[in-house]
Amino acid sequence: MKELMRLDKYLTEMGEGTRSQIKEMARKGRITVNGVTEKKSDRKISPSSDAVAVDGRIVAYAEYEYYMLHKPEGVVSATEDRRHRTVLDLITGRMRDDLFPVGRLDIDTEGLLLITNDGDLAHRLLSPKKHVDKVYYAKIEGMLPEDAKERMAAGLTLSDETETLPADLELVRRGGCGELSEIRLTIHEGKFHQVKRMFETLGCHVVYLKRLSMGTLTLDETLKPGEYRPLTREELELLNKTDQEQE
Ligand code: URA
Repeated sequence: MKELMRLDKYLTEMGEGTRSQIKEMARKGRITVNGVTEKKSDRKISPSSDAVAVDGRIVAYAEYEYYMLHKPEGVVSATEDRRHRTVLDLITGRMRDDLFPVGRLDIDTEGLLLITNDGDLAHRLLSPKKHVDKVYYAKIEGMLPEDAKERMAAGLTLSDETETLPADLELVRRGGCGELSEIRLTIHEGKFHQVKRMFETLGCHVVYLKRLSMGTLTLDETLKPGEYRPLTREELELLNKTDQEQE
């Protein structure tokens, strides 16, 4: 954690207001540091050892936050949106106001989404060079070709000529004529609408899509769609470790 930082930066990062609002709050005597009223919002404090309070309410400091969200359908993977609820609207217990989703799931896709403000981790997980595995479960309409597994494994050319890396297709249940098939697909990249477009190339249509894992992080199935929880220490350590190993 940072050794010393400005009081106004601390409170701004924790979502207590803009710098000028914090300045005004301090001027009015609403802010205390270790129980003593502090009128100078630009003074330095120690986030790890000083107790900062606004109107008598302690404001704890978190440099980074990490949440696992079971994204439900109907919300967008963005930090703000004029028409739809965003995944951040679901993280009601967050402390920081600079969180963002690591990557995007389509509005109708469910499943694992990591929400954090750790830009370095996000960058490493999303970097096309890292080929971080993503596992999806899908329900597919239309007859899956007999050679679907081999074609996915060879890599496909999508309708716009984009080439995909080899992917691993596992058939969970092959549906007969007019029925849905269920599959698990592991991809090593994250192109726009990638899973849906890969199946379109095979002449099939994805009617339900859920992300099960990303790298070492696996969706906690006790989370219902719309629910979230902080990452455990083990999950975070593992995520940081594998992410570095793949460099
Ligand atoms: N592939 C898709 O087509 N959609 C998603 O949301 C994620 C992967």
